[in-house]
Amino acid sequence: MAKIRKAVFPVAGLGTRFLPATKASPKEMLPVVDKPLIQYAAEEAEAGGAEHLIFITGRHKRSIEDHFDKAYELEMELKEAGKDKLLKMVQNVLPERVDCIFLRQAEALGLGHAVLCAKPVVGNEPFAIILADDLIRNDDGPGVVAQMAAVYERTGASVLSVQEVPPEETDKYGIVATEEQPDGTLRVVSIVEKPKPADAPSNLAVVGRYLLTPTIFDKLEQTTPGAGGEIQLTDAIAALLKEEPVIAYPFAGKRYDCGSKQGYLEATVEYALAHPELGASFRAYLKGLAL
Ligand code: G1P
Repeated sequence: MAKIRKAVFPVAGLGTRFLPATKASPKEMLPVVDKPLIQYAAEEAEAGGAEHLIFITGRHKRSIEDHFDKAYELEMELKEAGKDKLLKMVQNVLPERVDCIFLRQAEALGLGHAVLCAKPVVGNEPFAIILADDLIRNDDGPGVVAQMAAVYERTGASVLSVQEVPPEETDKYGIVATEEQPDGTLRVVSIVEKPKPADAPSNLAVVGRYLLTPTIFDKLEQTTPGAGGEIQLTDAIAALLKEEPVIAYPFAGKRYDCGSKQGYLEATVEYALAHPELGASFRAYLKGLAL
């Protein structure tokens, strides 16, 4: 079975829910405590085996490229000041074996279109897709991409990470209907983008991690605009599952919807509480607020 070596990060979105913070800087650069969302995503992909990180960018996304690039002046200054710990941190944003590739999506035509932009670089191999605003923490074991890669290596099937959501929220997600297989895996039998609660086949939602075979590119090429007038990845997956098995994988870990202010704040508080340097004092501070 081919290993997962490539991960795609669609980062061309406008981030309108965080305006004005995202007027001139990408939502993926919003920090949770001391790391931007996109770095958590890149680290998770790397831990799952990805060596080539492919970012699908757009206007106002230069700071993502800069973040993963060398920062000569900063590194020089930190070196001269003897700030070795900070220097290491800045130099090791990603391990050396990983390379970053940036592609520009000229028009925001939807998530499916963004993924299709990666076709020339991904080629004919399975790959991961990570939506950085779904931040997922799993302190007790491997990250979600690593978990999904293990499922792929066992089955050879495409894998979607799923989570139950409140039934009234189905219109925020891709929703799947599944059938349990003898080995306990959940095979996807249908998928629909953002159905109204009354039309939803279940309350099992796809969150921002996908592991797909390259057949998805053929399907994306044939996909016409769907929900919201956009080329939807969900619609291409609906075509894919007619030809190949697609598995829904209820991942281990806690997901924070950092595309919403509430989810972002919850992530900030919980990551701060778990932070090795800040945790104790931040906990004391929260207790002192005595809400
Ligand atoms: C996208 C996908 C949707 C998926 C969601 C996960 O929607 O289109 O199927 O459930 O990500 O976060 P978006 O949140 O970009 O509207």
